[in-house]
Amino acid sequence: MGRTLRKTLTVPKGYINEGKEIREIITEKEIYNKVKELAAEISKCYAGKIPIIIGVLNGSFMFMADLVRNLSIDFEVDFIKISSYGSSTKSSGTVRLLKDISADITGRDIIVVEDIIDSGLTIEFIKHRLEEAGTKSVKFATCLYKSNVAKQSFDIDFIGFNIPDKFVVGYGLDFDQKFRGLSSIYAFEEEV
Ligand code: IMP
Ligand code: MG
Repeated sequence: MGRTLRKTLTVPKGYINEGKEIREIITEKEIYNKVKELAAEISKCYAGKIPIIIGVLNGSFMFMADLVRNLSIDFEVDFIKISSYGSSTKSSGTVRLLKDISADITGRDIIVVEDIIDSGLTIEFIKHRLEEAGTKSVKFATCLYKSNVAKQSFDIDFIGFNIPDKFVVGYGLDFDQKFRGLSSIYAFEEEV
């Protein structure tokens, strides 16, 4: 970003990777503008419909909250919790369902909201789970998309930002449960 000074933070003492630096890659303002844009697009797409918006816990809670506040349509919300990472930064390759959807999604329009799509494994798993329930339609929204590595078998309908294959934190995303509360998005410069 030219000469723009980007904020940096250091992993505090006592944490894994202590001392490593994280650098802001997407600012609060950039997120704010993008969320408004996506919400307008979704509102237009679902005019006259009442979709169920399903957030993928935990990471999507902040993006989801911002997104729904900017929608101009009626909607319902629900959540699903999936685990593919454990406490490591690499996908374990196995996806586990930790909390299923509570709403009756049969015959409904569904929008799945993710914080980030990395390998695409999680979203692939969720798509199959939803298809079993006989939904009317399913679309996917994600704040971040690692376009060089994601390889799910279908298109993602609403993408906030395409990002490089770096580990990112903030705006709901964690590293070992830390950094979720940052209001912008930071990346680890080195491999973690
Ligand atoms: P996937 O199954 O590899 O697409 O990964 C999906 C999930 O892994 C996301 O919903 C996140 O919770 C987590 N994840 C993937 N990449 C990152 C990252 O860079 N930072 C934090 N969490 C991540
Ligand atoms: Mg997630």
